[in-house]
Amino acid sequence: MTRKINYLNLLLGLAILYGCQQSPSTLSVKSPSDRNEVLLSLDNEGGVYYQVLHHGEVVIDTSYLSFEFKDQPALAKGLGIVSSESASQNETWEMPWGEQREVVNNYNQLTIHLEEKESPKRKFDVIFKVYDDGLGFRYHFPEQEELSEVIITDENTQFKLTNNPMVWWIPGDWDIYEQLYSTTPFNKIDAISKRNHPNLAATYIPENAVNTPVTMKTEDGLYLSFHEANLTDYAGMTLKVDTLNLSMQSELVGSDITGYKVKRETPFSTPWRTIQIADRAGDLIESKLIVNLNEPNKLGDVSWIKPMKYVGIWWEMHLGRSTWDYAGTQDMNSWENLANAKPTGNHGATTENAKMYIDFAAANGLKGLLVEGWNTGWEHWIGFEDREGVFDFVTQYPDYDLKEVVRYGKEKGVDLIMHNETSAAPRTYDQQMDAAYELMESLGIHAVKTGYVGKLIPKGEYHHGQWMVNHYRRALVKGAEHKVAINAHEPIKATGIRRTYPNAIAREGLRGQEFNAWATDGGNPPEHLPIVAFTRMLSGPIDFTPGIFKIKLAPDKPENQINTTLAQQLALYVVIYGPVQMAADLPENYEGQAAFQFIKDVGVDWEQSKVLDGEVGDFVTIARQERGTEKWFIGSITDENAREVNINLDFLPPSKKYKAILYTDGENAHWNDNPLDISIEEQEVDNTSKLTLQLAAGGGAAISLVPAE
Ligand code: NOJ
Ligand code: CA
Repeated sequence: MTRKINYLNLLLGLAILYGCQQSPSTLSVKSPSDRNEVLLSLDNEGGVYYQVLHHGEVVIDTSYLSFEFKDQPALAKGLGIVSSESASQNETWEMPWGEQREVVNNYNQLTIHLEEKESPKRKFDVIFKVYDDGLGFRYHFPEQEELSEVIITDENTQFKLTNNPMVWWIPGDWDIYEQLYSTTPFNKIDAISKRNHPNLAATYIPENAVNTPVTMKTEDGLYLSFHEANLTDYAGMTLKVDTLNLSMQSELVGSDITGYKVKRETPFSTPWRTIQIADRAGDLIESKLIVNLNEPNKLGDVSWIKPMKYVGIWWEMHLGRSTWDYAGTQDMNSWENLANAKPTGNHGATTENAKMYIDFAAANGLKGLLVEGWNTGWEHWIGFEDREGVFDFVTQYPDYDLKEVVRYGKEKGVDLIMHNETSAAPRTYDQQMDAAYELMESLGIHAVKTGYVGKLIPKGEYHHGQWMVNHYRRALVKGAEHKVAINAHEPIKATGIRRTYPNAIAREGLRGQEFNAWATDGGNPPEHLPIVAFTRMLSGPIDFTPGIFKIKLAPDKPENQINTTLAQQLALYVVIYGPVQMAADLPENYEGQAAFQFIKDVGVDWEQSKVLDGEVGDFVTIARQERGTEKWFIGSITDENAREVNINLDFLPPSKKYKAILYTDGENAHWNDNPLDISIEEQEVDNTSKLTLQLAAGGGAAISLVPAE
């Protein structure tokens, strides 16, 4: 049921064309309600630049656009505007699963055709789509003789700020997005200082650059977030920071093997460069700019993709209670003869253990089971250079019977989630991809968690370069052919591809819960997720793996703990969006816990979502209505500061009574001193009710709202 008012009107020259002394010509396009405006101009030397206005105020000042190529002069100057076209769109499309069902896609578009004035007269287009919640622009290189194969050594897209905003940033790492966020004024960004993190062997930070989404609050209190949409057959973009001029410039992820950033043939389009603009922090989260800038669903009916809560043979390995590997020798040679392999005695992925988890999931209405460490190769993954050809994605360990686990699960209504850790050896995975997905399809397995831990093989390629962008996409496309949804860890960033390929269900691409089990830097601080909600989460669904109830990890990991209260762990199911949500703790830690009821009850697929309040890095409160029911769930989380949060329930339907179950921090709760202090209360409410909640330091609140009988 997609309502579509599609008045694509291509009106040549509708854009206002006027000349002035400084700039030979300026073109302009405004958002549907005039909130945002983009100006594109040429300077006297034929260099092309743009500016962005919000409510008439400049928010992005003169920012140039240019390219450098291998064996070709740069495309930077001597340009002329040949013609331009305007178009508009106002449609509503439906997400097959998501944080809301209907998405409004309403923008005004301006396409500018540029060409060099002198020979070789190369041409390219700049296309702006301007929305009320921000804008996207991309480059299009039409087919042309002088530019058939394009080898890009640098894309120079500038973003010139107008003051020195506060920035929530992670370094522009070519290999990993798993750094903690820093909060600094723009002119204090120092990504280089983030090199050599003790727990991140695979990082590569060549420049003072940041990764996207990067979110800022300007001195005028405006919120900006910079990212990209539809990253297809191109290198990921980091943003190089000029702390003196308060400006950023695209720095594409490269390859030491090829020496360039991107190779394409004309015609082609680049990903969209995006700027979300919001007067209220919460509007950044509600913005659907990134998915809107992607193409519609190419897969058709995807009813085989099932949003679900899942359990896993997973946390026990991160705690060190059991092992991924069977032989425990970390010696690949022992695998030359399976019969000689000596079991460690604490291999996690056994048939018996899997059945125990299935029983637990079935008893609690959780629909999925992830089993890590079921296939051969784990003796030789982390810490080994020669990982090519080691992992086998179809061969099970001797103590694990894949078919039997699938059968048992089906009998109990629990679906197996496949696991394919590639150890960052994508060529080995490419070779086996067909076999791996055929196996899943033959067993009726519709989801796989993939992993790319470690430095990439071949050496010199990086996780976020064009070569890997294409690998991640191959997995997605192949997965779709076999009706398999993909939850990638150590992924390429989310850029809204889930609209086109809805089997891109979730991904990691941030510092996840697992760090709390083994990080040597104190784990994720209480401010981590109140930052993530306004940064990483703007790009798409997250597999964070919430729900750790045993907050202090002794005796397994005496030095480690979760730096939140128990109530916050519940709130994360609502706040941190993902269509697959893990109940990450060991089943034994949920036994007899009244708070576990919330995890059983909470939805995973949403009719609508509302960000009620929030400030980047401080706190956020989100309400979501479950699809297909009239239930609402609210999650609120705070950083290291205790705070009072006021919630107005006026979003509920009028004159309808709801039973609210409130899971809130107890009076003495504190993320470190008293994380388990939780209070569970019931109350009748309606859309005139207002709730006042006390969140503890590092705390949170989770609320279920169920229509009263
Ligand atoms: C890294 C993933 O993030 C983690 O969840 C997984 O357990 C390990 N890789 C092993 O694949
Ligand atoms: Ca990871």
